[in-house]
Amino acid sequence: MSNRIIQRLDWIRQDFALTPDTYKALVEGFRAECVKGLNTASASGLATMIPSYVTRLPTGHETGTYLALDLGGSTLRVCAVKLLGNGQVHVTEVRRLITDELRKTNTTAFFDWIADCVEELCALLPNETRDTTASMAMGVSWSFPLDQIGICKGTILRMGKGFTLTGGIDGQDLATLFLQAFRRKGLRVVVTAIINDTIGALVAHAYSNPRARVGFIYGTGVNAAYPEKVSRIIKLNIAEWQDTATEMLINTEIDIFGNESYLPLTRFDRALDASHAQPGFQPYEKMMSGAYLGELARLVAVDLVNTQDLFNGHVPALLKTPWSFTTAHMSELEGYPQDERLVGRVSELLQFSAYQPSQADIHAMLEICVMISTRAATLAAAAIAAIIEQQTFEPDQDIVIGVNGTTFEMYPAMPERIHQALEQWFGETMAKRIRLEVARDGGSIGAALVAMLYQEE
Ligand code: GLC
Repeated sequence: MSNRIIQRLDWIRQDFALTPDTYKALVEGFRAECVKGLNTASASGLATMIPSYVTRLPTGHETGTYLALDLGGSTLRVCAVKLLGNGQVHVTEVRRLITDELRKTNTTAFFDWIADCVEELCALLPNETRDTTASMAMGVSWSFPLDQIGICKGTILRMGKGFTLTGGIDGQDLATLFLQAFRRKGLRVVVTAIINDTIGALVAHAYSNPRARVGFIYGTGVNAAYPEKVSRIIKLNIAEWQDTATEMLINTEIDIFGNESYLPLTRFDRALDASHAQPGFQPYEKMMSGAYLGELARLVAVDLVNTQDLFNGHVPALLKTPWSFTTAHMSELEGYPQDERLVGRVSELLQFSAYQPSQADIHAMLEICVMISTRAATLAAAAIAAIIEQQTFEPDQDIVIGVNGTTFEMYPAMPERIHQALEQWFGETMAKRIRLEVARDGGSIGAALVAMLYQEE
């Protein structure tokens, strides 16, 4: 590598590095926003710290079959979850990818499409589950902000994740939209609980490990949930809740947290935000979640190409179009064995035509990915640290965090990097108690469990 590229990479690395002071400001900033969110009466608009109305966690011994629907940014999953009573479940599932066309369709057509999938699932169920006169209870996991006012009541806020459904979806009651669509199809299914996917991750993980105290989503988006003392949830009518529950799960919507005063934004973060369809929305998420890392890496690479420091001034096809280089590509690149085949593999991946990249080029590209993904891991750890600090733990108690999402599960060494950042913050002794465990299928299993916990209410 030439001295010039080494120096330019050093500068960029410094931009992306989080010093202990920046990290401290992040954790403190997140905590202050938690407190502010709990105290802010109105949950309308871009709400954070949203009460879930879930006040208990499963024990792992529950049994029965419950329906669940999990709508994420890219996939719809409709399931029948059979709780086996030993912390294990058996899932029958219909899964559909959500096309770009569906994300932009009419609200009624979108909910009809969902009802079709539910109908398909019902046809797969054994007769004894289906042929009852009673309606089947369904839990819904909704991976988008919702102004929740009851276990099964909430109005839709801005959806994000590329959804721009027409016909006025914002402000509509979510359970009613499902009910109407199921009625149009003659389905005897009723939504009895609505949760955010991050609440789902926590509840689902608690079924397999009752010590779970944080649910964390780290995939296309990011979010966190935890049990908060009812006495501190000022935005609730505390008097009404205090006799029935001591804790309630909170959907932090930490994705929306953050502002200029404590988020260490680089010029690349600002450029990404400015080119986004929703500038200023979800600033923290834009620095670290799977939807954005690839584009950040692309912006850095193109910057270096433009000054002739990388690829001798040639932009490979994959880096030409905004958003075409994805987090999955970065993950692939970081995951390759570092041997003599690396240059060939990376050139193929980036789709060079006339130029043959050098070893130094490839190492620089890798460095870019590493600095962005390492910052992402550290930023994820800052959110987890803040949510841990919001709670009180016994001195020897394990701190179990159920994590769900492709960025956590698929990106090379992501769990280790997050844990290392937590260790730097909390010290070795406390870090040994912190367990980052994979909470698979959090949304659907969590939704089924909450439908079970609240079926009679
Ligand atoms: C986005 C959504 C949030 C969801 C998260 C993880 O940040 O706003 O509701 O929990 O993604 O899927």
